[in-house]
Amino acid sequence: MSIRIGILTGGGDCPGLNAVIRAVGKSATTRGWETLGFHNGFEGLLDNDYRVLNYKDMDGLLLRGGTILGTTNKGRFAVKTGHGETHRIPEAVLARTKENIHALGLRALVVVGGDGTLTIAQQLFEAGVPLVGVPKTIDNDLEATAFTFGFDSAVACATDALDRLHTTAESHNRVMVLEVMGRYAGWIAMHAGIAGGGDVILIPEIPFTYESICTKIAEREARGKHFTLVVVAEGARPKGGDFVTSGPQETNREARLGGIGAVVAAEIQKRTGKETRVCVLGHLQRGGGPTTFDRMICTQFGAMAVRLIAGEQYGYMAALRPPEVVAVPIREAIGRLRTIDPKGELVQTARDLGVSLGD
Ligand code: F6P
Repeated sequence: MSIRIGILTGGGDCPGLNAVIRAVGKSATTRGWETLGFHNGFEGLLDNDYRVLNYKDMDGLLLRGGTILGTTNKGRFAVKTGHGETHRIPEAVLARTKENIHALGLRALVVVGGDGTLTIAQQLFEAGVPLVGVPKTIDNDLEATAFTFGFDSAVACATDALDRLHTTAESHNRVMVLEVMGRYAGWIAMHAGIAGGGDVILIPEIPFTYESICTKIAEREARGKHFTLVVVAEGARPKGGDFVTSGPQETNREARLGGIGAVVAAEIQKRTGKETRVCVLGHLQRGGGPTTFDRMICTQFGAMAVRLIAGEQYGYMAALRPPEVVAVPIREAIGRLRTIDPKGELVQTARDLGVSLGD
C-alpha cells in the first residue's frame, strides 16, 4: 500500500489555505503518496469525515480563497477560549483521534493553522500523533516565524480600504476611522496604517488616550489638512480600559473582539465637532485569493511540510526566517503571542513620519 498522509485546515480561514493544500497534495503525489483531506478542521478527524485529494483536485487551488476542506474555530478540540486561556484536549477525544489515524493507516498529518490550531497540534503530538505544522493567520501573531501566510493578503485588503477612505475623507473634510482585525496584536493595523498613509494608528500594544488622538487632528487642521485617517486594531483599548467585544462569550471559542472603531469615532466627533465616520473591514480581510507573496510562502510551506514528513521530523512546522523557509519545533511558535514591540523599528518608523500612536 502506498504511503498515506492527511491534511486539515483549522481556525479562522484566510487567503492561501487552498494554495497550501495544493502544495501538499502535489508534493505528496510527486512522491507517489496518497493525501486525505479532513473536513472542518480536527472535527473531520474525529468523525472520519474526509476525502481523497486527487491530482485533478489541485486545479485552480493556488488562487482560490477560503479552504476546500472547510474549517472551524470552535468544536470538540477547542483548547483556546476566553482571552487566550488554554485547556487540555479531553482524553476521550484524544483516544478516538488516535484510533482513527491508526485505522486509516496515516503516516502523518499536516495541520494548517494559527495559534489555537497549532496548540491543539502540539497536544496531539505530545500524545503520540505524528504530525507537522504550517503557520496560518491573518493576525501574524505566531512566534518562530517572521510571517504567517494570510497576513500579507489581509494587509493588502486593508491598505486598499484606506486608499479608498482617503479620497472620500478628503472630499468631505471628515475623520474616517477604519477598524481592522488582528485580535490581540496590531500587525494588520500597523502595516496597513503605514502603507496606506494613516495619520493615527491605534494598536493593542500601545493603549491610547482620546486627548492624544484629538491633538493630532487639531494639528492637522492647523496645517490645512482638514481630514484625518484613523486605523484602529480591533484589540486596541484606551489607557485603563478593556477590550471591546461583540456579543457574549460563547463556549468552546475565543472571545470575539469588535466595536472599538465605533466607540473611537463617536468620541472623536464629540470632542472635535468634526464629522466622523467608521468603516469596519471585518471578514473582507479574510476573503478572496492570496497575494503573490502569500502564494509563494504557502507553496514553500506546503512543500516543506511534506519534506518534514519524508524525514520523519514530526512536531515541527515550516517557518519563514527571511530569506529562508526553515523547520522549527511547533512548541516554539505557540503559547506566547508575537506582538509589536512598542519600542521597535516599526513603531519608530510611524513616529518618524509624524503618525500618532495615540499615546
Ligand atoms: O484570528 C483571525 C481572526 O480573523 C481575528 O483577526 C478575528 O478577531 C477573528 O479571527 C474573527 O473570528 P470569526 O471569524 O469567528 O468572527
